[in-house]
This record gives sequence, structure tokens and C-alpha cells, in this order.
Amino acid sequence: MKQGQVLFLSRNEVARYIDGQEALELTEKSIEEFALGNTNNPSKLILPCFPYHNGHINSMPSYMKYGDTAGVKVVSVYNDNPKKYGLPTTIGTIILYDPETGMPKAIMDGTLITDLRTGAVSGINAKYLARKGSTSLCIVGAGVQGYTSMEMILRTMPDIRRVIACDLASQRREEFIAKGRQAYPDIEFSGIDDHTRALQETDILVYATSADRPLLENGKPGPGVTVITVCELLTRKSVGMFDHWFVDFAECALERYNEGGKDSADARGVAWEDLTMSDIAGEIGDVIIGKTAGRVSDDQKILAGAVGISVEDIICAESVFQKAMADGAGKILDFQDL
Ligand SMILES: NC(=O)c1ccc[n+]([C@@H]2O[C@H](COP(=O)([O-])OP(=O)(O)OC[C@H]3O[C@@H](n4cnc5c(N)ncnc54)[C@H](O)[C@@H]3O)[C@@H](O)[C@H]2O)c1
Repeated sequence: MKQGQVLFLSRNEVARYIDGQEALELTEKSIEEFALGNTNNPSKLILPCFPYHNGHINSMPSYMKYGDTAGVKVVSVYNDNPKKYGLPTTIGTIILYDPETGMPKAIMDGTLITDLRTGAVSGINAKYLARKGSTSLCIVGAGVQGYTSMEMILRTMPDIRRVIACDLASQRREEFIAKGRQAYPDIEFSGIDDHTRALQETDILVYATSADRPLLENGKPGPGVTVITVCELLTRKSVGMFDHWFVDFAECALERYNEGGKDSADARGVAWEDLTMSDIAGEIGDVIIGKTAGRVSDDQKILAGAVGISVEDIICAESVFQKAMADGAGKILDFQDL
């Protein structure tokens, strides 16, 4: 590529250069680098489009010493998209930069990378925090992030034999089960519409819904359970039901949980109390590098919240970029016409 040119990669092209196992390994590596302090990764910035449109657009930039990689993911979350427009709820675009000059070098689909790395984070949380030998998994919110979370947890927790799909929308639930049965014929799949029973009877639960109110606080977690939240309005009540609360990125997580939680509480006319650093037991990256202890006994109830870290996206995007360049894939566009 000449100076001033960028590589453009569509979703199908991105899919040729990354798979689930690689996304899992790269995501874990990026979380490790984040924990070691080898990254510049500010909190994500949220652009709400409410009340004019039902969605928000997040900006997530980062730089990693590993691979000398800089980039930004812009990710939209529009909950009405599947029903109203047949589009995904979560849509990503990734721009990679040459960190030496600040010139963009690639623009690619970030939807697939978002789905894979979000699932990967669930798999990693399960690997480090769930009870060894866990056999059952419940996915609350049987949508896109819920499915990739299941796929990745099946990779990291090989003893899982039973998967329960929980969704308010029976069609989403049935689609999830049908797709799961086809991909994993040895796993027993079933469906429910109320997560509270599963909280008592399942080893690992993932909350990945588009609900605009807290769900978890209405249940009662059983001993030894691990709850991983991809998307859930965490409250003091829900956090207080667990022995330990781990997060991916403490500063960003508190901003997101407090802002989202307060907005939802105000809309419902209920009181809100901010979550604070002292509620958090540690970051998952510190558990991975051995700086913080994770689960220390089988009966502990563990909550693991993930709001997403930019480096998870950027590490995957850089790997896709390198492979696509070597293969001559994608479209090279004149950007600056130098
Ligand atoms: N933590 C992260 O890094 C991260 C990354 C990407 C997306 N997200 C979040 O994940 C959420 C889900 O994204 P998605 O792309 O999977 O969306 P999706 O629309 O594909 O799935 C959401 C599912 O939740 C279900 N649902 C809504 N309310 C429910 C309820 N009360 N009980 C049970 N199910 C309910 C919906 O029917 C739908 O099937 C988004 O809101 C997004 O903000 C988080």
C-alpha cells in the first residue's frame, strides 16, 4: 500500500481471517497486556441518540505496545434493529492507524470482531472464575452476544453438558436452541422465559439482554454460581448478592453501570445508589496475571461484569489486517490522494 491509502475490509473478508479460537486467544492476550499496563486505553465515550432515536454510538480508542497497534472501534447499539429493520442490535466499525504518523491504514467491519471478542470475554471470565467441572450454562438474552458467549464458554469449560436459553422472545429462544443443537449435537439444549429459577440451578449464567431494567436483582443466586454480565443494569442489590464482584475495566465499568443504572432508575421512579471502587474485588486481567485471587472456594457466588475494552477489538483487527495484506485481500482505497 502506498502512503495515503487505506485497506477496506467487509464483514465477509474479516470472517476469512479470524475464527473463534484465535479471537479467544487474542482477546486473552489483550486483557493481559491491559493488566500489565502496556496499553493506553481510555474509558469509552457514549453518544446517546435518545430521545430522537432509540440507540447510542460508542467510541472506543486504544494503543497497544504489543504489535505497536493503534485504532478505534465505533460501535452502535440499537435495540429495535432486529425486529424493525432486520439489522443487528450491535454494529461495529474499526479504523486502524499507523501509530508513527497517525495516518489511517484500514477501515473494516467491526461487528463480527465485536461478537467474537465479547463471547471470548465471557469464555475467559468462566475459565478464571467459574467452578472447575461446571456442567450447566444458562444464557439470559439469547441474541447475538449470548450465542457467542455460549460458543466461547463451551471452548473454555469442556465439561458443560447442558445449555438453557432464556429469552422473553420465544422466537429468539427457539432459533438459539435450533442453531445450538445443530452445532453441538452432544449438548442438551432447553429453553425458559424466567431466569430466576436458573440462577438457583445452573453453574454459569450469562446475562446479555437488551432489557432496560435490572433483571439479576430479582433472583437469588445459588451457592457456587458464576454470573457473567455482558449487558445487565447492575445495582447495589444485585452486586450485594455475591461474595465477589470482578469487572474487566474498573473505571469504565463504574461509569457505565452508574450512568445506565441511574437513567433506568429515574425512568422507573426508583432510588439509585452509586456503585463504588470498594464494591469491586478486582479486574479479570489482574486475576489472569496472578495479581489478584479469583475464586477461592467452590461455594463462592461470583459476579463478573464486562463492559468491553478497546484493546480486545484492536488486537483482533490488527491480526485480520496483517493476514489480509499478506493475502492481497480487500479493497485498497485512495484516501489522501498523495
Ligand atoms: N459488554 C460488552 O462488551 C458488549 C459488547 C457488545 C454488546 N453488548 C451489549 O449486549 C446487549 C445485547 O447485544 P446483542 O447484540 O446480543 O443484541 P440482540 O438483540 O441480538 O440480543 C438481545 C436479546 O435480549 C433479549 N431480551 C430483552 N429483554 C429481555 C429480558 N427481560 N429477558 C430475557 N431476554 C431479553 C432480546 O429478546 C434479544 O433476544 C446490547 O444491549 C449491548 O449493549 C455488550
